[in-house]
Amino acid sequence: MYSSRIKKAKKARDNAYAPYSNFTVGAALLTKNQKVFLGCNIENASFSPTNCAERTAFFKAISEGEREFEAIAVVGGKREESVLCPPCGVCRQVMLEFCKPDFKIILEDKNEIKIFTLSEMLPLNFNKDFI
Ligand code: THU
Repeated sequence: MYSSRIKKAKKARDNAYAPYSNFTVGAALLTKNQKVFLGCNIENASFSPTNCAERTAFFKAISEGEREFEAIAVVGGKREESVLCPPCGVCRQVMLEFCKPDFKIILEDKNEIKIFTLSEMLPLNFNKDFI
């Protein structure tokens, strides 16, 4: 089950646009009703408009009306290599806006699949309950 999600993230990575860093990332976001939204990183010559793979997948899903999420699989690395690719802080904060603490982040470390929850990845967070 988790390996098929990693496989989808790898497929999404094929579309990454990363001519500046050569670090390509793919993400497969699973909704509670089992729909999958794929995302890749999209870089820009002016750097700051760059969008991470995770946020591409989230923004695609949210803009299509999805609001409930179960898990995201993320893979990435330099060129064809694959390394453990944990979501950046900005992506974690976006996840926090839409996901429960038990939302799962599925990563691949060498050939081993590792699962983390959002609350493990972003403890002591600033969230909508503060506002
Ligand atoms: N990147 C992602 O797509 N997701 C992450 O969580 C970490 C970083 C991308 C952004 C940039 O295009 C490249 O990886 C190098 O930072």
